[in-house]
Amino acid sequence: MPATPLYHGVCYYPELWPAGDLERDIAEMQRLGINLVRMGEFAWSVIEPNEGEISLEYFKGVLDRLHAAGIAVVWCTPTPTPPIWLTHGHPERCFTDAAGVVMSHGSRQHASFENPDVRAACHRIVEACGAELGRHPAIVGWQIDNEFKCHVAEDFNPHAIAAWHGWLAERYGSIDELNAAWGTDVWSETYQRFDQVPAPVSTPFLHHASLSTAWRMFARERVAAFMDEQAAILRRHTEQPITHNFGVGFAVNLERMSTGLDFVSFDDYPSAANWSDGVFDHDLFRAAKPNRAHWVMETSVAHNGWFGAHETSHPKGFLAAEAVVSFALGARTMCYWLWRQQRGGCEMPHSAVMSAWFKPSIGHAEVQAVESARRALEPLLANSCPAPAEVALTWSDRGRVMLDVEPLGADRERHAVDYLATLKAWHRRLCDAGLPRDVRFEGAALDGLKVLFTPAMACVDEVFLDRVEAWVRAGGTWVCGPLTGTRTAEHNVPTDAGLGARLERLAGVEMVYAWPLTGSGTKGIVDSAREIPLAGWGMALRPSSEATRVRGVLRSDSPAEGLAWWTERDWGAGRIVMLTAEPEGDVGGKWLHEFVRSCAAEAGVASWGQPSPGTLIAPQCDANGESWWIAINCDGQGGTVVVPDGLTDAITGEAVAAGTLTVGRYAWRALKR
Ligand code: GAL
Repeated sequence: MPATPLYHGVCYYPELWPAGDLERDIAEMQRLGINLVRMGEFAWSVIEPNEGEISLEYFKGVLDRLHAAGIAVVWCTPTPTPPIWLTHGHPERCFTDAAGVVMSHGSRQHASFENPDVRAACHRIVEACGAELGRHPAIVGWQIDNEFKCHVAEDFNPHAIAAWHGWLAERYGSIDELNAAWGTDVWSETYQRFDQVPAPVSTPFLHHASLSTAWRMFARERVAAFMDEQAAILRRHTEQPITHNFGVGFAVNLERMSTGLDFVSFDDYPSAANWSDGVFDHDLFRAAKPNRAHWVMETSVAHNGWFGAHETSHPKGFLAAEAVVSFALGARTMCYWLWRQQRGGCEMPHSAVMSAWFKPSIGHAEVQAVESARRALEPLLANSCPAPAEVALTWSDRGRVMLDVEPLGADRERHAVDYLATLKAWHRRLCDAGLPRDVRFEGAALDGLKVLFTPAMACVDEVFLDRVEAWVRAGGTWVCGPLTGTRTAEHNVPTDAGLGARLERLAGVEMVYAWPLTGSGTKGIVDSAREIPLAGWGMALRPSSEATRVRGVLRSDSPAEGLAWWTERDWGAGRIVMLTAEPEGDVGGKWLHEFVRSCAAEAGVASWGQPSPGTLIAPQCDANGESWWIAINCDGQGGTVVVPDGLTDAITGEAVAAGTLTVGRYAWRALKR
C-alpha cells in the first residue's frame, strides 16, 4: 500500500451559503486540521440552472481558495439530484417502483438513468465537470454520484424493462433456454418470447424465484454500467483516482462495482451500540481493492438525523475511537457529513461540525480529538498497512439477492433472515474471538487465508468451488454453512444432490433432509451429551466417505434423529467443515464462540494480544516487514490486552510492562517491539 497522507475531511456545500462565508469556513477548517473537503454531489442546479447553461466558474473559485489554503478536494458528479427542468412535466424520465408509483422532483434519486434523455443530461454534466475541473490542482479524487440506490432499488421505468428483455436475450440466447433454466412450467409461467417476461411488478402471489433473482442481478448490472460510463468520461479528463461512496446496505452489486473504481470508499454511521458495523465495513472495503487504501467518505460527528428519526448522539470519546479504528483498519480518510448544519431541507436534525449559526457544534471537541489522533498516527502509518488477515468471511452479492428473494429459514414471528445481519453476526463473532479478519468477495483470491467462513450463500458455483478446492487442498480450512449450497445459480433446488453433487463429494456428505428448524425446539448434540439449540434453515447430513467425521448430531426427538448437522473431513492438506444449522440463543452463541476459536486455532491462525470482547487489535506491518499493533477500546467499557515482553508504546517511546495492559474507555495504544 503506497504511503498516503491521512485525510481528515468534511462534506461541504458552499453553494448553500452566502459567498462571504467561504473565508470563515476555510479559516475554521484550518484551525481544526481539516485537510480535505468533498463537494459537488448535489450541486447540479447551481452548475446548470437552465438546460444547456453550464458554468463551473463559481466552483472553480471555491477550489482555488481551498487549494491556496492547503485543503484537498474530492469532486463529485452531481447526478443524484437533477434540476427541476429535467423532470418537470416528464414523468417518463422518473424512477418507477414495482407498484408503478412514479417518483417526483423534491428529494433525490428520483430521476431514471434508464431514460435516454436523463442519461444524456447526466453524461453532459459529467463531461462538463471533467473538462472544467479535471486538471484542477485542488482535486485529489473523484466521486461518482452519491450512494447509488440508497433510497430506491430496482427501477421499473419502461426503458428499464426494455433493457431487461435485451439482457435476458443476451444471457439465455433463446426463450427455450430461459424456460428450461428457470423451470417456468411451474404455474404455466412458460414464455414464448423475451418481451413477454415481466419485470416483477404486482402479481396476486409471489413471483418465480429465478425471475426475481435475475431481475435484481440485472438491475445491479445497470447501475454498475451507468457508473462505469461516468468513470470513462472522467478518465478522459483527469488522472486522479475515481471512487464511489458505497453503503453496505444498498441495492447494488459491491463486487461488480468495485472493479470499475480506482479505490473504494464507504459511508457509515455506526452508533456507539453498533460500533462493530463500522469494523465490518472496513474489513469488507479494505479487502475489495487489496492494494489500494479505502476511505471513509461520510460519518457523523455526533448523530445522524432526518425528519422523524435521529440516532442517539455519540458518547464522549466515541468519534476518536471510530477514527483510530478506521485508520488502523486501513482507511486513509475520515470524512464527516457534514461541515455546517443544514438550515433547510429535511436533514436539519443531523449533526455537523459547525451549527447553522456557525458556532462549534456538540461534536466539535470530538473532531479536535480525532485530529490529535490523526496527527499522532500519521507518521506511524506512513509506511505501514494492516497485516494480511488469515481469517475471512465470504461476501456474496448474489447470495444476498437470493436470500432477499427467498429468506430461507425465516419465521415471520421468531426469526428474521437478512443476509447483511447474518454476515455481521458472523463477523462480530470473529471480532469477539480476537481474530483479525477480512470480508472477501465471492470472487476474491484466497491468498494468505487459513480459514474461510462461508455462511448464507445459497449458491456455491463451480468457479467458487474450483478456487476453494485448490485452496483447501493446499491447507485451508473452509467452513461451509449454515444454509450455503442449497440453491443453483438460476435459483433452483439442485437435483443431482441436495447440495449439488460436487459440494457433497468434496465435503464427504449426503444431504438427506432440508427443512426449517426455527421454532421447532430442535437440539443438536456435541461432545456426546452437550445440547445446542438450533434454528434457521437446517440440513441433516449423512457421511458419504470414511474420511468424514461427524461432530454434531440431531437429538433423538428430531425427525432426523442421529443425522449430522456438523461434520468435517480432511481434503489434501486442508479441511472442509460443514455446519448446517444455526446455533441460537446464549447457549448457541457460546458454542459458536468456541467453534470459531477452535477452527482458527486448529488451522494455526496467529492471534495476538487476547483482547477482551469490545476491544480490537489491528495488527500492522511496516515497510521492513516488522509487525506492530494498535489496540482500541470500541465499546466504551474499557478493556484489556495481554502483551509480551519487550514492547514499547509507539507514541511515547516508553516501555510497556509485559502482562495485562488496560486500554481505557475509548482509548487506544500503539505498541511496537
Ligand atoms: C448519506 C448521504 C448524505 C446524507 C447523510 C446523512 O446517506 O450520502 O447526503 O444524507 O446520509 O446521514
